Amino acid sequence: MARKVIIAGNWKMNKNAAEGKALIEDLKAACGKCCCCEADVVVCPPFTTIGAVVEAVKGTAIKVGAQNIHWADNGAFTGEISGDMLKNAGVEYVIIGHSERRQYFGETDATVNARLKAALKYDLIPIVCVGELLDERESGKTEEVLTRQIKGGFADISAEDMAKTIVAYEPVWAIGTGKTATPDIAQAAHKHIRKEIAALFGEEVAEKVRIQYGGSMKASNARELVAQKDIDGGLIGGAALKAADFLDLIKEALGK
Ligand code: PGA
Repeated sequence: MARKVIIAGNWKMNKNAAEGKALIEDLKAACGKCCCCEADVVVCPPFTTIGAVVEAVKGTAIKVGAQNIHWADNGAFTGEISGDMLKNAGVEYVIIGHSERRQYFGETDATVNARLKAALKYDLIPIVCVGELLDERESGKTEEVLTRQIKGGFADISAEDMAKTIVAYEPVWAIGTGKTATPDIAQAAHKHIRKEIAALFGEEVAEKVRIQYGGSMKASNARELVAQKDIDGGLIGGAALKAADFLDLIKEALGK
């Protein structure tokens, strides 16, 4: 069975509430004239913008995601956000373990695993990011790194939960740099990720799991990337910040 294309915009630390609402209004204005509903489309604004965006997407097929989730239900964790709070705010997806969190905020495979469990507990759809650094790629360690991130990040997860989880392969050297992995390089990594998921959770689950590519994906390269056998969509940074860019990218990813 074909996996449905999923395109998620990771707004990172961009767009206040008014700007986020304006971006959704621009997306809505073009909606209906395009094919974006054929994909699952998700936008992931910063926490303080979520409320305005949840309001603005009402009546559309666009879903809202968050960029992080804490593993505890509540408590003394200054600066963090809980699954309950996200669910209550109308969030349906959550990005976990983005490389910027791993690089700047001490995220590890163990914290990714704890956050993943919290997301599943609150019935949020997790988008778990994995990917190698430039020196890891250059020293031939890409597959080893991906295997370690998958084994650690997805430890003690049931096959049923894994099937709901989305994986984003984001080679760190391609994020925000303008350097995209070639379709062949990306496909090879995605194939490895699916193979590792199959080893842990079985072939049937691995065939269901959607694996997004992320790292300088844009309208001009989305078609070729998503055409690859194991690439099921994209996690988009820069090209998700303008409605026209985001919609063009979605159309290309759908092969339209
Ligand atoms: P980029 O970011 O598209 O700007 O490279 C992707 C991401 O970090 O999710």
